[in-house]
Amino acid sequence: MLAIILIGGQGTRLRPFTCSRPKPLLPLVNRPFLEYQFDTLKAHGIKDVVLCTSYLPGQFKRVFGDGRKHGLRLSYVHEVRPLGTGGAVRNCARLVAGTFLVFNGDILSGIDLTAFLGAHGRGRAEASIALTRVKDPTLYGLVETEPDGRVRSFLEKPSWDEIRTNTINAGAYVFEPGILDLIPEGVAYSLERGLFPRLLELRRRVVGWVSPGYWMDIGTVEKYLQAHLDILSGLALGRKAPGGAGRVPLAGSSGRGRNARPPVKSCGRRVRLGRGITWPEPGGTAVLGDGTSVNDFVRFSGHVCVGPGCVIGRGAMLEDCVVLERTRVGPGASLKRCVVGERCRIGANTAVAAGGAVAGGSVVGPFSAL
Ligand code: GDD
Ligand code: MG
Repeated sequence: MLAIILIGGQGTRLRPFTCSRPKPLLPLVNRPFLEYQFDTLKAHGIKDVVLCTSYLPGQFKRVFGDGRKHGLRLSYVHEVRPLGTGGAVRNCARLVAGTFLVFNGDILSGIDLTAFLGAHGRGRAEASIALTRVKDPTLYGLVETEPDGRVRSFLEKPSWDEIRTNTINAGAYVFEPGILDLIPEGVAYSLERGLFPRLLELRRRVVGWVSPGYWMDIGTVEKYLQAHLDILSGLALGRKAPGGAGRVPLAGSSGRGRNARPPVKSCGRRVRLGRGITWPEPGGTAVLGDGTSVNDFVRFSGHVCVGPGCVIGRGAMLEDCVVLERTRVGPGASLKRCVVGERCRIGANTAVAAGGAVAGGSVVGPFSAL
């Protein structure tokens, strides 16, 4: 079965990190985000994957190539001008031969694709939409269903006075090829604002299937950070890789990997550790990428992920934060509930506070407060 992944968005709500790298390639616990979706697909035996690119397409090819390294057969369909979620799917029509899957490329979840496909078949649906429950549906596509699972209405980004349920579009679909005829060719068209309302208007069979378990759209800085904290705390994916394929691969686990708790520290290869480092309390986790150096008396607390090739200066304090690759954090600096991009220089004694998002390549002088 073919899976189409939509990865052409510019990721504007995740700037500055998406200025230089598309959202699906941003590292999540030191792996390109899309690899988590690949794991889910493989866990359910799906190996033929089409990536619909538009923004920074060359980067995907450089990282994933033909997919062989990942055990997949990957192909790319590029949009010179973005065609929207529906136009992107229509653009793949020549590759579609039967029932197929479509995914938004920014969702972290352990969706059970086998169960989803089963519900689609039982419901004799032309289109099935995976659903999840959230507190604030205004950020998503609101989906109302009948007691038998048929979709009654689909409303993208509703206002608060339009909210009658807490089930939203989880960004995963099963489609029959016939739906492609409803999508105009070569123009921008939205699945959410175009195809779904149109299918309902035509009384075609659209089924909603509630996907149980963890679900997160990593599309804002806050959620990108939270997805890290959730994986590291074991909340996301239940200490399993998406799709239940195995453990979340924390490089070079500290040897506590068989415990139910996440390891306190997990080091990649060639990590250098100084003296007197304070590791998180049990329940917390520090993940250090390959070749990273941590100097004397650094303190880690909560859940921290440091990318490869970083240097953490003497006495720095890192709490519930993410530092991307090849960044240097000066001595005595403090990072709390923030994300620091790649190749930054954070000056000595600088404090980056909650909500901070430091763009890749930034140079911040000493004693700054961000
Ligand atoms: N190829 C291609 N071309 N991909 C696109 C385009 C395009 O023109 N526009 C967006 N995408 C991709 C994005 O890269 C992303 O992976 C996915 O489509 C969804 O776009 P977002 O911009 O992240 O949409 P959203 O988060 O506001 O809303 C969508 O996801 C919600 C779940 O997180 C909608 O599908 C909502 O209905 C849904 O609830
Ligand atoms: Mg999104």
